[in-house]
Amino acid sequence: MYNVPCGKSSCLIENREKLRREEVSTLRELIDALHEIFQTDHVNIDHVQDLMTSYKSNPVEWKKFAKFDRYRYTRNLVDEGNGRFNLMVLCWGEGHGSAIHDHANAHCVMKVLQGKLCETRYAWPAKSEMEEGVMIENGEELKELERNMLDTNEICYINDSLGLHRVENPSAMNPAVSLHLYSPPFSTCSVFNKQTGQKSMCKVTFWSKYGERRNREIQDARSPEDN
Ligand SMILES: [Fe+2]
Repeated sequence: MYNVPCGKSSCLIENREKLRREEVSTLRELIDALHEIFQTDHVNIDHVQDLMTSYKSNPVEWKKFAKFDRYRYTRNLVDEGNGRFNLMVLCWGEGHGSAIHDHANAHCVMKVLQGKLCETRYAWPAKSEMEEGVMIENGEELKELERNMLDTNEICYINDSLGLHRVENPSAMNPAVSLHLYSPPFSTCSVFNKQTGQKSMCKVTFWSKYGERRNREIQDARSPEDN
């Protein structure tokens, strides 16, 4: 074999070395690295978090996915991860926030790409009463567990065993953008009433896919709970 001091081969070796350290420099590299990680059935979610942390937000790379709505936050699909994960960009106008929701037994890693987001975690509602053989919620207010302010490039991780959460853009002046990975992908989750703990199903939809706006019908079909 020839020794290639500075050519394609050395770049490949360098890229492989970066991947081993769970580091990426571009959104493309991040997506490629995620595809590689999710090829196996036993994904180490810490590696996913390390990769998401190592990516430093570059608006030039994600702005084509960042499609805002003036009334509520939007979910914009970036990559379907061969059916193993969904990667999406969420756009939060000033003061926009989500409902309190669970994550349908999936991992959720989110990273702020622009602005700041406030994440508030809640305990699952207590289920303590049986009524005619059916477990019902207590009707008690959801207990707040913690509140985290996330700055640009910071990440957070949640799954159902850690509780529920609500995500909000607390700023009245600046929009915010975040990158979310969900694995496995899901199309419905539960949303919760903060005062009573009452749960309802919510269909999750995309405002755009691969940088293209979806048709009006799909956008209008979003239920009021999908906020
Ligand atoms: Fe969430």
